[in-house]
Amino acid sequence: MSSNEKITTTVIQQRKIEGKAITMLTAYDFSTAKFLDDAHIDMLLVGDSLGNVILGYDSTLPVTMEDMIHHGKAVCRGAKKAMVVVDMPFMSYQVSAEQAVANAGRIMKETGAQAVKLEGGSEIAGAVKKIVAAGIPVVGHLGLTPQSVHSLGGFKVQGKEEIGAQKLLNDAKILEENGAFAVVLECVPALLAQKVTQQLNIPTIGIGAGADCDGQVLVINDLLGLYPGFTPKFVKQYATLHVAIAQAVADYKKEVTGKIFPSAEHSFKISDGILEKLY
Ligand code: KIV
Repeated sequence: MSSNEKITTTVIQQRKIEGKAITMLTAYDFSTAKFLDDAHIDMLLVGDSLGNVILGYDSTLPVTMEDMIHHGKAVCRGAKKAMVVVDMPFMSYQVSAEQAVANAGRIMKETGAQAVKLEGGSEIAGAVKKIVAAGIPVVGHLGLTPQSVHSLGGFKVQGKEEIGAQKLLNDAKILEENGAFAVVLECVPALLAQKVTQQLNIPTIGIGAGADCDGQVLVINDLLGLYPGFTPKFVKQYATLHVAIAQAVADYKKEVTGKIFPSAEHSFKISDGILEKLY
């Protein structure tokens, strides 16, 4: 494959066969998408986590189709090569398979993305089947599914006990049978994620699911260290940008109030003799 070709579902599935790790990160805007695309990240997820990190909600539940389409379009403009996957927001696919396929179709038509992602297992199998039958690639999402935070009783690791672990394994197989081409496993014990990965033909992409998934995903804001304070156990900060941002903004304030910025270097000149002509 030439390095400028768009990443397809076939490429992603081939990675599992070849044992080459899949890289996925969230992106919510054009500039970030371009950075990640230039860094050859395979998949950009326009996650409904944008409800938290972009829109400031305390959950993903208020996120709308319009929010996802707006940000999805921006990311697609920046992603020349990476595959763009857009999350289907809460209640855009749970009502019926017909509702799900109509909304998935809208996301694909209006954003230009290559796939959609849905949270859930057997409960949404019909929706997954219908979306896939319409020619739309689907990524599943199991384990800690933030749209169900209230029924899960909080942001907790899933599948630690037998019943939950067996349901997760069954759900993963159901998603595969119904045509999903990959599945995200969020906050799942590493050995359970390993078992799921071994038993599926489609790739698993982990977040807080250990090293044996076929790929990894993180929220870009977490990776960049945009927030001081608490970070979940599964997050690795590859930078501490919040420190650099706070320093830059403090320096700007100091220079503006101290009349240091803008200097002549950042100002424009008027042509000679013009000012004298003005009255
Ligand atoms: O919305 C999101 O960012 C996600 C990832 C955490 C997988 O679903």
